[in-house]
Amino acid sequence: MTYQFLSRIAEVIFDHIAADQAVFRAFDAKGEPFFEAAKGVEEVPGTAAAGKEIGEVLAGRALEIGRPVLVRDLRQDPLFADLEIDGNGHRPRSVLSYPWSLGGRPAGLVFLARNADGRPFDTDNMEFLTLALAPAIYLLRKNGGASPAEPEPRGTDAPAPSAFMGEAPSARRVRVMIERVRDTDAPVFIAGESGTGKELAAKTIHETGRRRGGPFVAINCAAIPEALLESELFGHARGSFTGAFRDKTGLVEEASGGTFFLDEIGDLPLALQSKLLRVLEERKVRRVGENRPRSVDVRFVSATNKDLDHEVERGRFRQDLYYRLKIIAIDLPPLRARPDDALLLLNHFLDEFSRTMDRPRPFVSPVALELLLHYPWPGNVRELQNEVQRCLIMAGGGPLILEDHLSPKINPAGETYSRVSHRFAEAKADFERRFLREALVRCRYHRTRTAAEVGLTRQGLFKLLKKHGIGARTSPAD
Ligand SMILES: Nc1ncnc2c1ncn2[C@@H]1O[C@H](COP(=O)(O)OP(=O)(O)OP(=O)(O)O)[C@@H](O)[C@H]1O
Ligand SMILES: [Mg+2]
Repeated sequence: MTYQFLSRIAEVIFDHIAADQAVFRAFDAKGEPFFEAAKGVEEVPGTAAAGKEIGEVLAGRALEIGRPVLVRDLRQDPLFADLEIDGNGHRPRSVLSYPWSLGGRPAGLVFLARNADGRPFDTDNMEFLTLALAPAIYLLRKNGGASPAEPEPRGTDAPAPSAFMGEAPSARRVRVMIERVRDTDAPVFIAGESGTGKELAAKTIHETGRRRGGPFVAINCAAIPEALLESELFGHARGSFTGAFRDKTGLVEEASGGTFFLDEIGDLPLALQSKLLRVLEERKVRRVGENRPRSVDVRFVSATNKDLDHEVERGRFRQDLYYRLKIIAIDLPPLRARPDDALLLLNHFLDEFSRTMDRPRPFVSPVALELLLHYPWPGNVRELQNEVQRCLIMAGGGPLILEDHLSPKINPAGETYSRVSHRFAEAKADFERRFLREALVRCRYHRTRTAAEVGLTRQGLFKLLKKHGIGARTSPAD
């Protein structure tokens, strides 16, 4: 979070205070920079190196001075008098710098410089810098500088370590669970609707736990034909069945030293359920066609979006295996149950995708935001992620995501009207649904206001909403 937050603040500062050179840097306890955002350092052709050098020297000097500095004209300032600034138009003339320290050590710096052809910085700029930096400094202080769990600043192609995000109590509980279980070997069972982050949670356990040095091997039990599944899982000996030309190591063995993730475990056929149970109990696998058991050191994580209690009741899933797998159970909350996280994740994906698409991060218009936040996200985080990606494409590099850029399911008012029936009653119902949705969107789902706006009584509106099954998205203001 700190890293993203710092990026955001840097962006706000750089956008608001025009500068020819801008650097935002934060240092860890060893004095090493762990975050840097910079702008304009290479933008002047032919003078990049010189510009950077001078910028570095000035930034270093500002850090030494240890307090915010506003210099209108470097040539006339005694603090910088010994620096040779030639004033050829490409070297900084005016400088604004704001270093801060934590626990007595220099912890960060914002450094802005303008060339001779620009206006000098003024006290308004300094005031803005002070205000904009306050939350960043507060956050860093709370974390004691860079938190060790923080992802390092990364290049565009370095993979991000998995992180299950969310600040709602239910999401925090998930994170606490992940932290508690990641360094143990107990099987973990992850339940949740589609797109709630089951695979992500499994990866997070692996990547942050003590098995992170080992492999993470995943299998989707629903995607592999039953006839192949056993040999995929446990391996086989040469000649054990037609087509088994050579010995094959099973995926469980391949996960040795690491984590084995059984996705869609609810779809594991009964015959294999008993074999898996034996593996869990004995910590040994038998390859198909072999009697000799082989020891495996594997941590099992399984996941499903099925109701396994129900499957057990129906006799489709072995109860003993179920109990064995869910020694530790993590329930992932659906996104609609944590609406504040929808906003957090929306911003997160906007940052992420803008970065990978190498484009400026757009903002979301208030109406579009309202629509996004009122949508119930049946496909959960994955659906939100896909929507953000789609919006960025639809916005075509523009600075703003508007309601027109949203999918029709999220912005029903933007839907083009197509008559679904030639029968009057159905066409009328169709019209009513659209009309009501549009009115609700205009009134931000405030139903009393909607009723007043369209000339219905509150009861009349409620009746119609019920009739058309519109009602899941209630406004807290109602
Ligand atoms: N809490 C979260 N924080 C950040 N990203 C998330 C979160 N939850 C899900 N995602 C992202 O949403 C996408 C879907 O997540 P994932 O594949 O883990 O879901 P799933 O529960 O396994 O879905 P399915 O049941 O359909 O397989 C992934 O790209 C994942 O990184
Ligand atoms: Mg999955």
